Amino acid sequence: VRILVLHGPNLNLLGSREQSIYGTTTLDEIDAAIAQAAESLNIAVDTRQSNVEGELVTWIQEARTGYHGIIINPAAYTHTSVAIRDALAAVALPTVEVHLSNIYQREAFRHHSYIAGVAMAQLSGFGPAGYLLALQGLLEHLLEQGT
Ligand code: DQA
Repeated sequence: VRILVLHGPNLNLLGSREQSIYGTTTLDEIDAAIAQAAESLNIAVDTRQSNVEGELVTWIQEARTGYHGIIINPAAYTHTSVAIRDALAAVALPTVEVHLSNIYQREAFRHHSYIAGVAMAQLSGFGPAGYLLALQGLLEHLLEQGT
């Protein structure tokens, strides 16, 4: 099993960015925890971050070959990007949407996700643990499917 984890814009600033909302864990620390979980689950996981919408679209398209599922925190593109939604719909890989914060507790413009409609599941509000929960849930789903 091989899973692609994508982090969207401004998530490279985690640790210093709006600490009261996103906490003090850095993206490197999150990626290290994901790598450790992948190792203990005996699966392959690649993590990538981009501030560029088109780059995320290209990586999603490329995941068609070689990956069984996607975990994505689209960050602000959650609320704006038809292109990322369409890319996920096109590749049709099981996808889990992750948000560190609970987007439904925040400003109204964060309450709508373009991604949710094409995602298998959404985790919002668990902080960095959301990625690990997503990994576990996605893996169980893939194994049930016979991947
Ligand atoms: C976020 C929530 C988004 O609304 C915001 O634009 C982000 C991060 C989260 O992880 O809580 O950049 O996706």
